[in-house]
Amino acid sequence: MKKITIAIDGFSSTGKSTLAKQLAKHLGYVYVDTGAMYRAVTFFAMQNGYIGVEFFDKDGLVNALPSIKLAFQFNPALGFGEMYLNGTNVEQEIRTIDVSNFVSRIAEVSEVRAKLVEQQQQMGQGKGIVMDGRDIGTVVFPDAELKIFMTASPHTRAQRRFEELQQKGQDVTFQEVLKNVVERDHIDTHRDDSPLVKAPDAIEIDNSELTREEQFAKVVALVEKI
Ligand code: DC
Repeated sequence: MKKITIAIDGFSSTGKSTLAKQLAKHLGYVYVDTGAMYRAVTFFAMQNGYIGVEFFDKDGLVNALPSIKLAFQFNPALGFGEMYLNGTNVEQEIRTIDVSNFVSRIAEVSEVRAKLVEQQQQMGQGKGIVMDGRDIGTVVFPDAELKIFMTASPHTRAQRRFEELQQKGQDVTFQEVLKNVVERDHIDTHRDDSPLVKAPDAIEIDNSELTREEQFAKVVALVEKI
């Protein structure tokens, strides 16, 4: 079967990565979580004092961009690549609520986006890729053969995220998570550079009422039609 590019975009915590990983495994494709790349840059900015609760040294971060090296290293036990920042595995560090609270501000910076989009396009050159994010079908791969746009109600998404964070032992309340989801939706859809929008040729899936299996079957059927 011909290898294609699959772009999965949508709001935070709509289960994009679950679907993307299932699909990549099923098809033998590479999975790329672009949110992890924005999160890794955010973690770098926090660690190096470029961003905090009351400040953001955007110029400092932009000047430091050439020293940020991002790579996905395949973990056979997990079946997908983990995020490395300058040679260190940062999978745990980039999933905290602190990173989630700052990441939309980092993702607004055009210089950050340009650097990451270029790297994402290089990763997709050979096709056979499932990439998830916010601008994959609109900016990174406007010619992707299959584009999915995922939605679910903010309450459903916050509940999923809250359960995930609780399982990881993070000390957060449902209200905090809901607030973060709503704020990120606002920033992600209103930023000037590459706001989150559904590409005209993307297929929308609202999974508020769908099981993982139903959603997966729906998308596999779409892939098979191509
Ligand atoms: O998918 P996620 O929640 O891990 O993404 C983290 C943030 O990164 C999200 O708030 C928006 C941003 N992002 C983006 O702007 N463009 C992408 N392609 C992926 C993520």
